Amino acid sequence: MLLKLVNIKKSYGLVPVLKGINLSVDTSKVVSIVGPSGAGKTTLLQIIGSLDTCDSGDIFFEGVNMATWNNKQKATFRNKKIGFVFQFHNLLPEFTALENVSIPALIAGNEKEQATNNAIELLKYFGLENRMYNKPSELSGGEQQRVAFARALINKPALILADEPTGNLDTHNATEMHKLIFNLRDDFKTTFIIVTHNKELAAMTDEQLTIVDGVMV
Ligand SMILES: Nc1ncnc2c1ncn2[C@@H]1O[C@H](COP(=O)(O)OP(=O)(O)O)[C@@H](O)[C@H]1O
Ligand SMILES: [Mg+2]
Repeated sequence: MLLKLVNIKKSYGLVPVLKGINLSVDTSKVVSIVGPSGAGKTTLLQIIGSLDTCDSGDIFFEGVNMATWNNKQKATFRNKKIGFVFQFHNLLPEFTALENVSIPALIAGNEKEQATNNAIELLKYFGLENRMYNKPSELSGGEQQRVAFARALINKPALILADEPTGNLDTHNATEMHKLIFNLRDDFKTTFIIVTHNKELAAMTDEQLTIVDGVMV
């Protein structure tokens, strides 16, 4: 088991947002989370990714309780074990696709040449060998999102957390991205937790979860 959530609760002020979430995710699975706007989906992903903290409950990652980690351990966890993909790509506008993908590897302590070579390999895998030296504004929405996936994967994370990754793409690009997610699972044994409104994607996943009003239904 890669990830286990036990009775996760979170409030913002007096407003309960997550009301006791339990979740177990095995390695190399694609899990989708659907639910109406405001249900707590983004909050849950941010807690799993250690960008936010829960009020009570336990999260075990590879068997270790995340509550035992200090801030430095959490930062290492985010850099090496987790990849984030957002609805809007969040690429750094001043940097090329290649630089955007390389940066997390440099932060992880890789030599520049190694980081660059790994980033080139990934960009080729994503069919972006001709777009490596372009900046995000020079790329299409589909290309930007593929760069964002490459950036999320550069340090070979165990888990990708994706928050509506195809929400901003047209049908063709969304379908291509869906295929890519399952290829990544098969080729890299990556585990995915994907928040999505896309019924086609949700139907393809190994496990489909629904959150309504802070509760898994
Ligand atoms: N930082 C915050 N401060 C206060 N309320 C928040 C904050 N983040 C989210 N919320 C509230 O928590 C609820 C769940 O939000 P969110 O997790 O973003 O839902 P979803 O991603 O399912 O649309 C919403 O009512 C939202 O307004
Ligand atoms: Mg959200």
